[in-house]
Amino acid sequence: MCGIVGAIAERNVVPILLEGLRRLEYRGYDSAGVATLDDARHLQRVRAVGKVQALAEQLAEQPIAGRLGIAHTRWATHGAPSVRNAHPHVSGNEVALVHNGIIENYKELRAELTELGYVFESETDTEVVAHLIAHQLEREGDLLAAVQSAVARLIGAFSLGVICRREPGRLVAARQGSPLVIGIGIGEHFIASDVFALLPVTQSFVFLEEGDIADISRSGFTIFDHSGRAVQRPQAVSAQSAGVADKGPYRHYMLKEIFEQPTVIADTLEGRIHDGRLLESCFGVGASALLDQVRQVHIVACGTSYHAGLVARYWLEELGVPASVEVASEYRYRDPVIAPGTLFVSISQSGETADTLAALRGAKARGCLGSLAICNVPESSLVRESGLVLMTRAGREIGVASTKAFTTQLVALRLLSIALGRRHALTLEREQLLVSELTALPAQVEAALALNKDIERLAEAFADKHHALFLGRGTQYAVAMEGALKLKEISYIHAEAYAAGELKHGPLALVDPTMPVLCVLPDNALQEKVVSNLQEVRARGGELFLFADAGLDVHFEGSGVHLLRVGPVSDSIAPVVFTVPLQLLAYHVAVLKGTDVDQPRNLAKSVTVE
Ligand code: AGP
Repeated sequence: MCGIVGAIAERNVVPILLEGLRRLEYRGYDSAGVATLDDARHLQRVRAVGKVQALAEQLAEQPIAGRLGIAHTRWATHGAPSVRNAHPHVSGNEVALVHNGIIENYKELRAELTELGYVFESETDTEVVAHLIAHQLEREGDLLAAVQSAVARLIGAFSLGVICRREPGRLVAARQGSPLVIGIGIGEHFIASDVFALLPVTQSFVFLEEGDIADISRSGFTIFDHSGRAVQRPQAVSAQSAGVADKGPYRHYMLKEIFEQPTVIADTLEGRIHDGRLLESCFGVGASALLDQVRQVHIVACGTSYHAGLVARYWLEELGVPASVEVASEYRYRDPVIAPGTLFVSISQSGETADTLAALRGAKARGCLGSLAICNVPESSLVRESGLVLMTRAGREIGVASTKAFTTQLVALRLLSIALGRRHALTLEREQLLVSELTALPAQVEAALALNKDIERLAEAFADKHHALFLGRGTQYAVAMEGALKLKEISYIHAEAYAAGELKHGPLALVDPTMPVLCVLPDNALQEKVVSNLQEVRARGGELFLFADAGLDVHFEGSGVHLLRVGPVSDSIAPVVFTVPLQLLAYHVAVLKGTDVDQPRNLAKSVTVE
């Protein structure tokens, strides 16, 4: 999703801005741009469609410089990806601005500003803000006051970086629903939508809070809250390393991240289990007392993280813990009944997903007992706003299609189910068994990765397909959903997952020899029922791809059955292990199709708009 970088310094900031944009590339975008105020007080702007490299090439032809500047990667919402719609947007030669998020009342404002004589060059909601600030600047003569007045009129979730021709020593930033951070240098300051963009220039950050507007100069900054009161926000030092993850021997980040799973799963368990038991201190100070009061759990997340939540519901219920799971975009607009003793659990790789954050805020406002974030980014909004935190330790995930973040989420959720299960139906013996199976997980995932070559061959059968069905039951239904999402995201093949028992209630009509049907079949109480469901597929001539536990005795007559043996794996960790071959399948199909594996079309890594 869109990325913002801004800088005010004594040196030319264009290289800093460009490097910042490169570091935000993983978020997904379709155009990029940069604007500076040069020493002759001219606003200069260069924009390009496509990758940041295209912008760099454009800048080589048309160099600009300045000690004050803003830059942006745009993920199109209002108006197609084009140079005209790319940020920064300007109003005359006075104001330039970059914007993340959505201005919901832009149509009314556009009509009003058009009436006042402002001419619009783009189809974006952003340009409205540029003109609105320019208009206020005319009236108030001060950039900070102009931004404050303009922001007061905006409805929506956004963050902004603004510069103007008449104030060369000022960068103004605003946050309302979309993350923004100030980077602190020596005699220079920066802004960005993600600390990672600024790590080459600073490790010290101040995170703006909702409604904050920052007035930033080379020597300092002042933050004003939504009421205009000057406030202090805590300074944090990032523990992240500045190094950009490289692909190592792998062709894509996604493949590298798939192969990192044994390590990051072990990291996620590290220090959290001892002597065959879970250490509850991993949830933070005071967690045990809070967990004692939990009567039920609301799990809320989006996309892949939601699939992790679906798996967790089975795990929690099996141990007697009432649990519901919902996508955040629905939960936030329902009127969920939050009964006494409800723990709100959010799951998010980025910790910045707009819907998940809104759902958390809503649950807190409705008086949930407590909130727990399962997240991969320590400095994220979700982590900062949640009472308890269980970090996944997947390391930076660059591929837009989430892989290692998902499996480490499952590990974290398994730990949560043990913690809550202890207070319900989980016995000491069973806890010890679950913990020992968790400990075996890195080796089990390693074994699943060894199937890579077999899966690469299987992928050939998918590359020319337009549709695919994924089947599973129990926790594996959620795994099938995740496998279908991975295939859709990076290979652009339409894939849908069904609970295998639902097949005969409709989707069976789709089955013919051209429809690949993939089924995940671990060794558990539901396996015979799944095999019966698969007979229905075979009877209709469907081509079957069966990822089955190596301990199972399964045979299907005739051709058109591809059997991949996984494990054997115990059922408690099977969702993690069976996910791996599905990730590899999606990856190899995408490679065969020649898609942009790490940055698939239309998608963003961090979905900061609703
Ligand atoms: C996963 O492959 C997707 N890119 C997407 O579904 C993602 O899981 C979703 O947007 C939620 O993101 P989050 O985990 O950062 O909240």
